Amino acid sequence: METKNVLMTIFGGTGDLARRKLYPSLFRLYQKGDLNDDFAVIGTARRPWSDETYHQVIKDSIASFEPSDKEAQDFASHFYYQSHNVKDTSHYDVLKELSDQLDEKYHIQGNRIFYLAMSPNFFGTIVSHLKSQGMMNTKGYHRVIIEKPFGNDYQSAFKLNEEINQVFAEDEIYRIDHYLGKEMIQNISAIRFANLIFESIWNNRYIDNIQISLAEEVGVEERAGYYDKSGALKDMVQNHILQMLSLLAMEPPVAFSEKGIRAEKIKALDSIRMYSEDEVRNNFVRGQYTEGEIDDQHFKGYRDEENVDENSLTETFVAGKFLIDNFRWSGVPFYIRTGKHLTEKGTRINIVFKQVPVNVFKNSITGPHKQNQLDSNVLTIYIQPTEGFSLIMNGKEIGQGFQTEPVKLEHRNSADIIENTPEAYEKLLLDVLNGDGTNFTHWDEVAQSWRIVDRIRQTWDKDQQTPPGYPAGTMGPKEAYQLLEKDGRHWIWEPDEWYRQRG
Ligand code: BG6
Repeated sequence: METKNVLMTIFGGTGDLARRKLYPSLFRLYQKGDLNDDFAVIGTARRPWSDETYHQVIKDSIASFEPSDKEAQDFASHFYYQSHNVKDTSHYDVLKELSDQLDEKYHIQGNRIFYLAMSPNFFGTIVSHLKSQGMMNTKGYHRVIIEKPFGNDYQSAFKLNEEINQVFAEDEIYRIDHYLGKEMIQNISAIRFANLIFESIWNNRYIDNIQISLAEEVGVEERAGYYDKSGALKDMVQNHILQMLSLLAMEPPVAFSEKGIRAEKIKALDSIRMYSEDEVRNNFVRGQYTEGEIDDQHFKGYRDEENVDENSLTETFVAGKFLIDNFRWSGVPFYIRTGKHLTEKGTRINIVFKQVPVNVFKNSITGPHKQNQLDSNVLTIYIQPTEGFSLIMNGKEIGQGFQTEPVKLEHRNSADIIENTPEAYEKLLLDVLNGDGTNFTHWDEVAQSWRIVDRIRQTWDKDQQTPPGYPAGTMGPKEAYQLLEKDGRHWIWEPDEWYRQRG
């Protein structure tokens, strides 16, 4: 392990992400000794805060861990606030002076991490000033952590990447996709590569289809300004869903290392079929929530949300079918869906196996089998909020005669374990401290994901159609069901009574 002596400068230090995720995660690392006493954090943002105000914000953000006053104070004392205008070069001179002082005070030996947790419009400006104003003239390591969205389409992502590459090498760039820090996403590789019984049937001979659902109960909350320009496709598919898909589809890596995994993920993404416009229309559906109820709470429709255009065509839901053109996956659809204000929060992967070729029980002498076709085996990976996996198998129903019934073998992490598992940001921050880029997205992955998503987006932009509505509290518009029905399939995870009652 490398030394943890480090100075972290957070651009966007007063923001929501810093308060909700970064400070609590740093605190947990501090408590566990992953950050020793030789670290300092500079928080920057435009507002003119004092260190005292900043310390109070830090203490408030870790209050849920119930630290003692002394512990909270000791931790907060490592934080320094510097009011900063990212466009003003003279402000970087002040920042440099403070950084050099802290470097000396905390014996940091020049190790610097820059965390860009603010509007992506400024990423290029910040990194170029970091270099021009000498913030990187130190002998230690330099790493930059970049929050999503990494660009708005391929073109803008490419430009941004060029700007960052002027200052940081690829192995110094840590592009965050917080899903890659989630325990059960990391578990996908364990399930696949530590179990011969799965990896040997992980292909188009045995798997019928794979379903990835990222359902959210929340709406757009305070982020409507951003969301209305983004939509579900760019917000969730370009990053989280395509990352999950590549982990599910990739070939076994030579080694479970940054280099090994990246190489395989990129190949998987490169094999995703690029659709023509008509294929996009056939294989992707959108939705926009209308008013509805979740757990007796009433929610207004998307177009009535504050900061949303009343004629907005932005999708708050997307479902689609990806096809992967390689030997392993040819002919196996990867169905995906994600949306806001769905029935409940839940991220799940269902691997649906093919049915047995012949149902030998069909004409059994003990009487006709109640099903003509046996149920498929389904391996479910529960990502969140519940964590674990299950396998549905067919067994014999107890009693006379011979009937089969599906049985579920299940492993779920207990609530206690889930609560004490490091949060995604905590894991990812530790990875950056250790210089391990395995759970971050490489530029080639980002680029290919944008190319795939741009193709879909361009067709939608051309069509200029209002996305079909779905009431808040349902699992999306009927078109999302029809997408699978026309292939003779159905969504395996179906918490939605509304659809079943629809008739
Ligand atoms: C973010 C999206 O990347 O992921 C949000 O921008 C979304 O719109 C969030 O709500 C979901 O993350 P999680 O960890 O709550 O599933």
